[in-house]
Amino acid sequence: MNGFARYPSLEGRVVFITGGGSGIGASMVEHFCAQGSSVAFVDIKVEESRALAAGIEGAGGPKPLFIPCDLLDIEALRRAIAQTADGLGAIGVLVNNAAEDTRHDVGEVTVEYWDDRMAVNLRHQFFAAQAVVGQMKAAGGGSIINFGSTSWMMGQGGMPGYTTAKAAVHGLTRGLARDFGPDNIRVNTISPGWVMTERQIEMWLDEAAEKTLGERQCLKEKLYPPDIARMVLFLAADDGRMCTAQNFIVDAGWV
Ligand SMILES: NC(=O)c1ccc[n+]([C@@H]2O[C@H](COP(=O)([O-])OP(=O)(O)OC[C@H]3O[C@@H](n4cnc5c(N)ncnc54)[C@H](O)[C@@H]3O)[C@@H](O)[C@H]2O)c1
Repeated sequence: MNGFARYPSLEGRVVFITGGGSGIGASMVEHFCAQGSSVAFVDIKVEESRALAAGIEGAGGPKPLFIPCDLLDIEALRRAIAQTADGLGAIGVLVNNAAEDTRHDVGEVTVEYWDDRMAVNLRHQFFAAQAVVGQMKAAGGGSIINFGSTSWMMGQGGMPGYTTAKAAVHGLTRGLARDFGPDNIRVNTISPGWVMTERQIEMWLDEAAEKTLGERQCLKEKLYPPDIARMVLFLAADDGRMCTAQNFIVDAGWV
């Protein structure tokens, strides 16, 4: 990570990341650890998450606290947040990252599946924010970063449960930013463009997609998880102290 910023305000800050076991979440776990933050993360991918934590420690970094947790279970999420505060101290940064973008046909969506899409892509973001706000307030402030997506802005089809939830993240961010602002708690959305995680490469990156990417992105390089993680660091650090209620797009200029 040489050549990129170091944020003194992130040293020792307690950071809670959802879905930190793989993809962009794993990169954020690594980046916050490299800043000297006290990191806790939850995921359902237990083996990958343990390997990530051990790998960071093995490389000489501070071992992040991994707590297995299915975010569909809000009580389990609340317990994980309480365990983090007990073990590491008051949470200063919440990164609501976990989501699931499985494609689905409109005709096949049941009421149960629709509710499931809202639960995996939206509901836990609200309840995580609700669970940390008291400790952030007591500590004099905090930063909450909610993950959106540019998919719905581009009018992408094939996953209405996902795009609807991701659009709603903006409403959540702006509403909470108003409610929490008087307590110096900032709430922002980060909307990634097409980021080359293992899942994305495996499922969607083919010759046709490469061609579209080359045509649509102003910058011709592919986006990778660290490109998103670095924007999150800025929003988490005191450097972003007057940014709230906003949406920050990191998409290499997809127009
Ligand atoms: N990769 C992209 O191109 C892209 C584009 C736009 C937005 N995003 C957003 O960025 C964020 C991260 O995406 P990603 O590409 O790294 O995704 P990913 O699928 O690679 O990783 C998501 C992580 O969340 C975890 N997770 C999913 N459901 C969970 C549950 N019920 N409980 C606990 N953990 C759960 C997964 O196990 C996984 O580790 C998401 O909010 C996604 O919508 C990604």
